Amino acid sequence: MFSSCPPLLRCSNSGGSTRPRRGWLSILPYDDVTYEFERMHMNVELPKRMATKAIHAGEIHDSLGAHTAPIYQTSTFTFEDMDAVEASAAGTSDAYMYGRGASPARAALARKLAALEAFGLATGTEDVSAEIFSSGMAAISATLMGLAKAGDHIIAQQVLYGSADHLISEVLPTYGVTNTRIAGLDPVELDRELTANPTTTVVYVETPANPTLALVDIATTADIAHAHGARVAVDNTFATPVLQRPLEHGADVVVHSTTKFINGHGTVIGGAVVSNDQVLMEEQIASLIRYLGGVPSPFDCWLTNLGLKTLPLRMQQHCSSAMTVAQFLVSQSAITAVRYPGLESDPQHGIARKQMDGYGAMVAFDLGSYDAAARFLDRVDLCTLAVSLGNIDTLIEHPASMTHHVVPPEEREASGITDGLIRMSVGLESIDDIVDDLEQALSG
Ligand SMILES: Cc1ncc(COP(=O)(O)O)c(C=O)c1O
Repeated sequence: MFSSCPPLLRCSNSGGSTRPRRGWLSILPYDDVTYEFERMHMNVELPKRMATKAIHAGEIHDSLGAHTAPIYQTSTFTFEDMDAVEASAAGTSDAYMYGRGASPARAALARKLAALEAFGLATGTEDVSAEIFSSGMAAISATLMGLAKAGDHIIAQQVLYGSADHLISEVLPTYGVTNTRIAGLDPVELDRELTANPTTTVVYVETPANPTLALVDIATTADIAHAHGARVAVDNTFATPVLQRPLEHGADVVVHSTTKFINGHGTVIGGAVVSNDQVLMEEQIASLIRYLGGVPSPFDCWLTNLGLKTLPLRMQQHCSSAMTVAQFLVSQSAITAVRYPGLESDPQHGIARKQMDGYGAMVAFDLGSYDAAARFLDRVDLCTLAVSLGNIDTLIEHPASMTHHVVPPEEREASGITDGLIRMSVGLESIDDIVDDLEQALSG
């Protein structure tokens, strides 16, 4: 699909690798990066920051002049004649043929997401591309099936989103793909396991991890993995490209559940894969969408694209409110532990500062027992008891009995998913109302 949908965005960085890290959220101007922004109907070069790219990158401007991109709700596309068919077959035209292979709203969303994950990359940003899937799990499955074949090995961190955990530990082994899990992908252990398992083709990372908010140092992991010839795939769902761009830190592939912050409104299940390795994308990962078939609908892509336009602004408020919530929780005697990467007291705050531009909406905290957690969750009112995350409203859940129920109890324990653990996705309601709700629920 990439040959038929050339990327519309190019980025170049005149600052090179010595460029200082950008300020919070990269919304603020900085002058050592120049962006060339190519729109379909005009060739202009303008400097663009993250918030501008989120709105304009990859947009379709149709021939009738519709201000908002139309939804091409069609399964197939027509050809004028056999010359057009042959140009398409030869890859010399941009024509769409069939919705499973490529479609306009999907391509537009892919361009926008690729532009955001490429933001600030020192080299080769023109090679960054994305493919959009019908769920985060479809994107993760395509990534791992594309990177690991029968006889290959995967190394993953211990704590992962429940279904990704199950895919790696239970499903892929039935296809001959073995795995090792390492707590925090500790560098010494990672090096040892890569040496012991020379068939390792991929190191799989989730940072911040669902649900414990444990972090992995992406650059250190990439250095070690690459020295052993393995690729690094990072699930960037919790951080989003606004707060963390794994390609910049040496990762080879980024995966997303776009269901979460990228859509932001809880209206779509979706996923994405992004990489700056075109051969990898075209030959191993993105192209699998045709054969595995996890294709998103045009309407879902359109909704997700709409949500993505406000991502930088939403993340700014999410980060501010989550910090307030984390500080409030730390002050509560009923709570035995709080994990929020932005807290200076967080054991991995140093890693967060190194690779993140902000610390996100997700907070994990422990009430010490199942009974205490259940009592608290029964009492919350504004905070909604539900799985998923990244919506404009605050969602709260009990991982051991909800998102991570599929993980066996002994594995949950090894991952730090206790019976008292609660995961909270801090929304965009008034922060005072969110804290009031937590306070009344804790007082019960
Ligand atoms: C970190 C993370 N990755 C992947 C997924 C899977 O995404 P989806 O539900 O869109 O398939 C989830 C879902 O909660 C998640 O939290």
